[in-house]
Amino acid sequence: MTRAMRLLALCGLSLLACASAWPQASMKTLSVKEIMTTVIAPATNLLWGASNVQTDAQWQELEQAAQQVIEAGTEIADGAGSHDAVAVNADWQASADEMIAAARSVLAAIQKRDEEALFNAGNDQLYPPCESCHAQYLPK
Ligand code: HEC
Repeated sequence: MTRAMRLLALCGLSLLACASAWPQASMKTLSVKEIMTTVIAPATNLLWGASNVQTDAQWQELEQAAQQVIEAGTEIADGAGSHDAVAVNADWQASADEMIAAARSVLAAIQKRDEEALFNAGNDQLYPPCESCHAQYLPK
């Protein structure tokens, strides 16, 4: 499968990959789980899967994904919908803030068109906050 075909397949599976901008209002009505599965997971899969990025369109797709992680992180950090209760916890906010900071590093690498920096920020910075928050808050 060519990369373009894979991106098209992704677009088919998730509105996200094709939506030009996630409307701010709609994320408010999503649960944390929905934000994870419909925004954060597809966006980070795209970022973690990036290799041999060539066209400007591919870089733009990655840029959008990084921005979606930032937006989603901001959303859960201030407490999305019914999740205000957990969002007051310091460790919840720390993980969310770490994820936002990581996504900003990823975004900076993308804007420099630096695939190695993207790879490193993705692995070293973007992954750990998922783990630390899930260790504490994923329902057992
Ligand atoms: C600040 C906390 C927090 C951070 C950071 C976080 N998550 Fe989550 N995530 C959760 C919570 C809470 C759930 C469970 C929601 C539920 O079931 O109601 C969850 C669920 C998920 C799920 C669904 C899993 C399942 O079995 O239901 C996926 C996929 C996921 N997260 C991916 C990620 C990825 C990838 C990252 C990092 C880029 C990440 N999350 C970062 C809190 C977080």
